Amino acid sequence: MKIQRRTLLQGGLAAATQFLVGCGNAAQTDAPLVGFTPVPFAKGVGPMPTISDDYVYEALIPWGTPLQPDGPAYQHPATSDQAEQVGIGHDGMTFFPISDDGKRGLLAINHEYGRNTHVLGKAVPESLADVQASQYAHGAGVVEIAEVDGKWQRVASDFARRIHGNAETTFSGPAASSPDLKNKADNPYRGTFSNCSNGQTPWNTYLTCEENFNLYFAASGEFTPNESQQRYGINKMGAGYGWHLFDKRFDLSDPGFENEVNRFGWVVEIDPFDPQQVPVKRTALGRLKHEGAGHAVSTDGRVVVYMGDDQRFEHIYKFVSADNWQAMQARGVSPLDEGVLYVARFDEGGTGEWLPLTAENPKLKGFKDQADILINTRLAATALGATDMDRPEWTTVAPNGDVYCTLTNNHQRTVANPANPQAPNPNGHIIRWRDSDDFLGTTFTWEIFLISDKYYAGENSFGSPDGLWADPDGRLFIMTDGDQRDGHSNQLLVADINTGEIKRLLSGVAGCELTGITSTPDRTTLFVNVQHPGNGDPSITNFPAEFDQKTIPRDCTLAIRRRDGGVVGS
Ligand code: FEO
Ligand code: CA
Ligand code: CA
Repeated sequence: MKIQRRTLLQGGLAAATQFLVGCGNAAQTDAPLVGFTPVPFAKGVGPMPTISDDYVYEALIPWGTPLQPDGPAYQHPATSDQAEQVGIGHDGMTFFPISDDGKRGLLAINHEYGRNTHVLGKAVPESLADVQASQYAHGAGVVEIAEVDGKWQRVASDFARRIHGNAETTFSGPAASSPDLKNKADNPYRGTFSNCSNGQTPWNTYLTCEENFNLYFAASGEFTPNESQQRYGINKMGAGYGWHLFDKRFDLSDPGFENEVNRFGWVVEIDPFDPQQVPVKRTALGRLKHEGAGHAVSTDGRVVVYMGDDQRFEHIYKFVSADNWQAMQARGVSPLDEGVLYVARFDEGGTGEWLPLTAENPKLKGFKDQADILINTRLAATALGATDMDRPEWTTVAPNGDVYCTLTNNHQRTVANPANPQAPNPNGHIIRWRDSDDFLGTTFTWEIFLISDKYYAGENSFGSPDGLWADPDGRLFIMTDGDQRDGHSNQLLVADINTGEIKRLLSGVAGCELTGITSTPDRTTLFVNVQHPGNGDPSITNFPAEFDQKTIPRDCTLAIRRRDGGVVGS
């Protein structure tokens, strides 16, 4: 496997250099970039997905699938076996090929969330074992999949593992030794959860992004959130998971664990090729409700990571590594541990500025040190005058160097700004920008790529864009998570970046979100996730089972292919 890994690293470099040549846009062919027959609007409702007539899908690795063929079988409600099974809430993911033909690989995948009623079959946990089963259902994982006899499936693996809400983790970067990450009680760093979207580094590791971590904390006694905790939505009630009832790490009123909540909201690096690696929380990338981590590589080899903070009126960030990533690794330093974190201010006239979140910045004199800035990133961003956005979700970097970000919706906006022109903004928009100086500059130009309301009434109607991927040919894959017109299910659309044409490739099942997107190297198979089908209600859908109104629906991955074996999206 070591040889395969070296091969992969070269592949990663080749992928990185695509950003250097400014190759711009689509393959120069006569065929339209987005040529498939779209799913008609009227067909996008029901208990089963609907896909373009030119495509087929198959479902794999539903929630509870054992990581290994001889592992503990799916059962409901979940038990401690969940730690050896595929988690729930399939979200961001990356396919890391391990065979030359790209038909076998490691799927690193996020398991964002699952409600107690769905995971445990009851609203409130009744024991520590219940809490741990819920924690095991959350997090991320590595699953080995292969196309066997024409069908994608989970296979036996030396790499498969779960990194769940109670797994060992560690910290690195400027805030790693901060006392604000230490608890009085002697407990190790444990767990990652609320893992939303993702990223992939040029050195072929996986980034999993912790988003709504606040929902898992609550207080059994007195608790008054401070200014920063209020800003992150941390409150006495939480969202009803009840983890604090049996695991005092999550009890905000326990004086031994007052800093536990600071240990979440980070970007976590996982090496899918090393099952013994302890996942690392990279503090230099800030503490947010991290949605995802799309990246570019500058000509001089610096890594630039673009990140949305998904909450109404929060911000867009970028991190620039201090040096060429290979030179940093040669020095024994992670390229994600040294560098500058910036937050975006979008100005009128299509210009903008990246504002440095550094201790040297005179506007941040009120913070103790760099660690304080990174742990309380939202407060620091406000102090710099960052632009309040309409819920920044995924970011992706197109081959021509444009960076795209979904702004999913904001029902609460009452005052528009240039980059968020609708007040309110019920159906969201997508913005794109171009950084100066080869991704490294502190200025940029920007424009709005689309406003969903422009499409909301017609055959191409959609709202709440969320998942996003720009492919190497100039297609933009858009996945939705929110109310669609006339009860239409959430959808996967494909846009031609140059013409703005948009077509519907897939409609999900009732009550689901479509999220997570990755492909085989030849792009003949695209993987996407059906998250929370029917919101767990078997009377709505039983997917991936056929509709029987009894079987509990399960989050799963879809492998999508063109019937003619062509590139997906074409
Ligand atoms: Fe987990 Fe903002 O979506
Ligand atoms: Ca999302
Ligand atoms: Ca969303």
